[in-house]
Amino acid sequence: MLAAVIKAKNKEELNRGIKKTDAADLIELRLDYIDSFDYNLIEKIKKKLKKSLLITCRKKYEGGFFDGKENYRIDALKNGIKYGADYIDIEYSSDKIDVKHLVKNKNNTKIIISYHNFKETPNNIKNIYKNIKKLNPDLIKIVTNANSVTDNFKIFELIRNANKEKKKIIAFCMGSYGQFSRILSIILGSQITYASVGKGEESAAGQPTIHELVDYYRIKKLNKNTKIIGLIGNPVEHSWSHIIHNAGLDKLGINAVYLKFQVDRLKEFIEYFKRMNTLGFSVTIPHKIEVIRYLDEIDEKAKGIGAVNTIVVKNKKTIGYNTDCDGAILALKTKTNLKNKNVVVIGAGGSTRALTYGLKEEGAKISILNRTIKKAKLIADHFDCDYAPLEQLKNINYDVLINTTSVGMYPDINSSPLQSDFIKKNSVVFDIVFNPYKTKLLKDAEERGCTTIPGFEMLINGAVLQFKLWTNKNAPEQLMKKKVLEYLKNVGHQN
Ligand code: ATR
Repeated sequence: MLAAVIKAKNKEELNRGIKKTDAADLIELRLDYIDSFDYNLIEKIKKKLKKSLLITCRKKYEGGFFDGKENYRIDALKNGIKYGADYIDIEYSSDKIDVKHLVKNKNNTKIIISYHNFKETPNNIKNIYKNIKKLNPDLIKIVTNANSVTDNFKIFELIRNANKEKKKIIAFCMGSYGQFSRILSIILGSQITYASVGKGEESAAGQPTIHELVDYYRIKKLNKNTKIIGLIGNPVEHSWSHIIHNAGLDKLGINAVYLKFQVDRLKEFIEYFKRMNTLGFSVTIPHKIEVIRYLDEIDEKAKGIGAVNTIVVKNKKTIGYNTDCDGAILALKTKTNLKNKNVVVIGAGGSTRALTYGLKEEGAKISILNRTIKKAKLIADHFDCDYAPLEQLKNINYDVLINTTSVGMYPDINSSPLQSDFIKKNSVVFDIVFNPYKTKLLKDAEERGCTTIPGFEMLINGAVLQFKLWTNKNAPEQLMKKKVLEYLKNVGHQN
């Protein structure tokens, strides 16, 4: 179930919030935020919206706003029962006499006993689960902070165990390492996930909006058979891959969801997820090279490049691929032939390696130019091509110029890796930076009459190739493009 959390101060804010809960199954009213509450509204709201109502009054210590007397707080929950709330949520840290009283006198209301830990996911979490279970609630709620991606695994084990015991549980992790668990826990059998009615209206850090959960992650279509795909990186919050891939999965009616995993312990993560119902992963900074040693097989191209950006999981085996290279070459080939062309590649990182590998295959003549010459030499020696310091650009005659550095990437949108008068008139300029859509380098190049290729094209090409590897189906490319451009327009990153 999807719960919309409303933390209104007064009746006006409450009404405004309620209007934004259309897609939710349940409304959690946080009485700790409201100045005074008319309990008759419980029945009115239920009737009008035909949704279940959950009453919570969180004290400060549990991440809430209430700092009055405890008996007032317990009375608020008793009133919740009296006036017909479908659920009330009482914290495990409350006086056990109060908890037992509420459980005993619950009438038709379901009781959630909740445990929150904003610091960590303690090792004794199983005991906490057992102790809550003894109090006989209708739902056991356990929410902890993940300080590593592996903390989520403890919570998933709790959910699996509760499923086995046929106990209803709500469990997930908070924090950036736990963000994905708000969605994945629902697939595993957790009963409720919480969402805010809009940006800035969250009741807990990292709480997604209803819009994000419903429109991007298709939370209402997920079930225990939903397969998992996702991005492995650190950080991951700024990535748009979830917009691209979930739009494609939805369009083709594939029961899979694409999540974003902030991963610190890469080896443990891969070992854990290859045993799940997983189709595969995208891999991004900083894991593209390290991940190679944890995979069962590596495709020849990825081996040649020395980096993996895509993992396919098949029969609990992991196979590494690299679609960066083909994604970039496809984008370039829409605008130019590469055979015997003089190509300058700026930068000397992982993306430079992928590009150089592909350019070499196409028969281009490559010069690698980098701020740090040593790094340029390393790649040039490996791929048997030329290299030079960045300042040499003005003396090089080239047909195609490619930027593989991150210079110009949002939010640093007014920077370019080179002076505009170094851009050769009428050449082809490709920038792998995809945010913003049109970088400073591309704008300068346009002014000099160049043919330009935005990094966005490489990103979409790569995503289409990944989609095929995971699902064996052709991705709906135009729709994926449209969705991400719409998203960019909304967040104001496109120009
Ligand atoms: P990736 O693996 O994604 O390609 P990376 O390994 O961090 O990323 O590589 C970034 C490249 O961008 C490097 O070659 C870096 O130059 P140095 O080798 O001199 O560090 C280049 N780069 C980053 N910021 C730059 C800047 N302001 N000017 C020029 N080059 C820059």
